[in-house]
Amino acid sequence: MSCVKVYTELHLIAAQEGLLKNLNFPVNETSFSPAKTRRHIHRKDVIFTISKIAYGGVVFFLAHDKEDMDVKNELLSGLTSTPKYIPGWYRYDKEGSRLNDLCLQENENYYFHRCEMNILKANLKSMCSSDVKNSILVDMGSGNCEKTRLFIDHLLLNQEKLDFYPIDISQEFLLDTCRKLSAEYAGRLDIFPIAADYETGINKLSTCSQTKVILWFGSIQSLEAADQIRKLQMLKKTMTRDCQLIFSVDITQNRESVMKAYSDFHARQLYMNSIWRLIRDENCDVDPDNFEMEVDFIKNNSADTMSFVQVLIRAKQANSFTLLWVSPWR
Ligand SMILES: C[S@@+](CC[C@H](N)C(=O)[O-])C[C@H]1O[C@@H](n2cnc3c(N)ncnc32)[C@H](O)[C@@H]1O
Repeated sequence: MSCVKVYTELHLIAAQEGLLKNLNFPVNETSFSPAKTRRHIHRKDVIFTISKIAYGGVVFFLAHDKEDMDVKNELLSGLTSTPKYIPGWYRYDKEGSRLNDLCLQENENYYFHRCEMNILKANLKSMCSSDVKNSILVDMGSGNCEKTRLFIDHLLLNQEKLDFYPIDISQEFLLDTCRKLSAEYAGRLDIFPIAADYETGINKLSTCSQTKVILWFGSIQSLEAADQIRKLQMLKKTMTRDCQLIFSVDITQNRESVMKAYSDFHARQLYMNSIWRLIRDENCDVDPDNFEMEVDFIKNNSADTMSFVQVLIRAKQANSFTLLWVSPWR
């Protein structure tokens, strides 16, 4: 029997109605009450249980994965679009990752991280089945691995050694985190960092035939709705019947809580890092003082789509700036 488990705490539920519906999960059965702290839903044919797929060998390692993604072209395409945008992942360089950590510690309105930690601490044993042995651990957007450590400790109760595949676009920060983990779990954790965007990381996973416990915390909602579905469907293809995917989403509909969380000084610093990084990495002569941040909560009750937080970095007045690597004839 296939099984999707849904864990809730307060207004946080580890499943999102629109998302589950798009994954063919019967949404009318997920009308859980936030008052209940936990609820299990058993269904056949749920997306996360898939028949076995044949794989080749394991081909991984930190190489120069970031080059797989053409950062400059992605930036150019965003900055020449209407309206202009900077891809969300761009704010996560080493400085962005540091600002993200600071935000988790200092932003007392950021309920999501705290709820995730509470849910994980209270439910870890039932989330991560204890009969999983010799599995590998994958972490999508691993960050500082605070939540991941809970799973590493848990899995190491049942196996002598663990192979760990953190996937994160923030290369330097990823490597620093891996060094710390390596020292902490000396001899028991083999780490294969994948410094890449999610899709490159998932494609690399597809060559790996071991049973996987895949984590995705704190970040799936940073992707557009269609992109969330796309990446979950890609992950599905890497999974066999014994694999587990454990991810969290925020279905808060309380405008006031959301606005407080994302308007906080530290959250703003993290978003502004996109502009600061343009200056640092791309030699761009943009003036950060010419921009102000606007946060809005776009509520959407339709089961097909989702509510989301919109963050705009709006120019106070018309201005132009130069990206030195862009040909003037382009
Ligand atoms: C909000 S943090 C979450 C970190 C951690 N999972 C947690 O729960 O605390 C998002 C993480 O995802 C990474 N990230 C963001 N966009 C990404 C992308 N497109 N591909 C890979 N990693 C990405 C960031 O570098 C960052 O470490």
